[in-house]
Amino acid sequence: MGEIMKTSHIPPSNISYVSVVRKSKLYPFLCTLFIFLLLFAYLYGEELAQLVGQFSQFSQLDAEQPVPVRLEKKEKLPFVIDELDDGESCNLFSGKWVRDEMTRPLYQEADCPYIQPQLTCLDRGRPEKDYQFWRWQPFECDLPSFNATMMLEALRGKKMLYVGDSLNRGQFTSMVCLLQSVIPPHAKSFVKNGSLTVFTAMDYNATVEFYWAPFLLESNTDDAIVHRISDRMVRRDSINTHGDHWKGRDIIVFNSYLWWMTGLKMKILEGSFKDEEKKVVEVSTEDAYSIAINSMLRWVNRTMDLTKARVFFTSMSPTHEKSQDWGAAPGGNCYNQTTMIEDPNYWGSDSRKSIMRVISDILQEHQDDVPVTFLNITQLSAYRKDAHTAIYKKQWNPLTPEQIANPVSYADCVHWCMPGVQDTWNELLFAKLFYA
Ligand SMILES: *[C@@H]1O[C@H](CO)[C@@H](O)[C@H](O)[C@H]1NC(C)=O
Ligand SMILES: *[C@@H]1O[C@H](CO)[C@@H](O)[C@H](O)[C@H]1NC(C)=O
Ligand SMILES: *[C@@H]1O[C@H](CO)[C@@H](O)[C@H](O)[C@H]1NC(C)=O
Ligand SMILES: *[C@@H]1O[C@H](CO)[C@@H](O)[C@H](O)[C@H]1NC(C)=O
Ligand SMILES: *[C@@H]1O[C@H](CO)[C@@H](O)[C@H](O)[C@H]1NC(C)=O
Ligand SMILES: *[C@@H]1O[C@H](CO)[C@@H](O)[C@H](O)[C@H]1NC(C)=O
Repeated sequence: MGEIMKTSHIPPSNISYVSVVRKSKLYPFLCTLFIFLLLFAYLYGEELAQLVGQFSQFSQLDAEQPVPVRLEKKEKLPFVIDELDDGESCNLFSGKWVRDEMTRPLYQEADCPYIQPQLTCLDRGRPEKDYQFWRWQPFECDLPSFNATMMLEALRGKKMLYVGDSLNRGQFTSMVCLLQSVIPPHAKSFVKNGSLTVFTAMDYNATVEFYWAPFLLESNTDDAIVHRISDRMVRRDSINTHGDHWKGRDIIVFNSYLWWMTGLKMKILEGSFKDEEKKVVEVSTEDAYSIAINSMLRWVNRTMDLTKARVFFTSMSPTHEKSQDWGAAPGGNCYNQTTMIEDPNYWGSDSRKSIMRVISDILQEHQDDVPVTFLNITQLSAYRKDAHTAIYKKQWNPLTPEQIANPVSYADCVHWCMPGVQDTWNELLFAKLFYA
């Protein structure tokens, strides 16, 4: 019987089938059957392997020694063309930043016309650009170089969508900047309409889009009206409100983090925002967040064909609001920071840890039925206190004299200068897309 397995490449899953059969009293008859099977297996090895594999799932119910080994053939994810040098063993997210003035930055700020004025740090007066010359170097292997032509070829006739908050808009913008440099001016467009921004590469019939939905679920902050943070509310089971606008995409990159971090319990609306009497429950940030992530996964499962499409989730983008976090004198933040944090174990705020656990646990739990590629950018970005926009950005409101006198008070330590850290997130996405 070992022979059968060898010649027909039947995976170990059929062992239980075989052992069940041997115990039966029809032994002589079955011997003949096996000879027949041997011949059949020789001729139709592959198909038989699948057949027996399926059958053995039932026969295992009767087996005295269940051998619950599944078919080992690993499904290749869509878009994947090859493995990285070291195959699966390389953790791309564990590494260090190395200075590289030869290959960084991947583009010039002034050469990408699509960067929002909130992210054009040099244009807004940042006096140095040290933050642009760092390359992420995983410990165990090299990141493949980002190849814009290759990415555009993969997107030919396809649609890629980023969904989430302003950090994800930054990652979207970075992707557009990385791609647009190889497209002549007349063959591309960039159009914003409400929540949706669409970059089109006409010769490729490809789009890269961003949809703003900071909670993924419907919320009372989705319109432009300013609400108090304490009034923030998301509606349970409302993923379709935004999700209806995400259909038919070939690659979706989700994120959601910042808006959950109010430090307060989160209000969940059980009915509709139109209800006269609103039924609201308050839950912990972690529970509210897991409601949203689970809704997203169910939406993906229901709506996308993951044998053809890919889904990514970008982990939380770290902020640098408190200089004590990295052991500096209190009262500072990312303002005037031009060097990164050297401590390899630096993590920052604890609340990030519990949210990280929520995402990674849920995604891990569903890795088999809803495979989502996790872009674990939190740790590697946490070192980069030097890379935020700080005061070098377009301000929504004019600054007061008090603010001008105290730049720390209005420094933006959430968003990132471009080019910069977020290009690395897309290099990691590129690596996972093609070499997962
Ligand atoms: C993310 O990457 C960091 C750095 O390698 C690692 O310490 C952490 O465990 C990872 N987290 C998850 C949830 O994969
Ligand atoms: C980039 O990808 C294109 C298309 O796959 C290929 O022809 C080209 O050689 C690649 N460039 C580099 C530098 O690898
Ligand atoms: C362009 O791509 C879309 C899918 O995004 C497809 O439906 C359409 O047929 C394509 N058009 C051409 C001219 O290839
Ligand atoms: C903007 O989107 C809406 C629907 O979301 C559509 O009705 C409208 O025509 C779009 N406007 C432009 C200028 O494309
Ligand atoms: C995905 O869909 C399958 C089949 O409909 C179902 O069994 C599974 O529970 C779903 N998983 C999630 C996370 O929605
Ligand atoms: C910025 O930091 C440097 C030290 O790195 C310090 O000498 C300088 O005074 C700081 N500038 C401002 C405006 O805080």
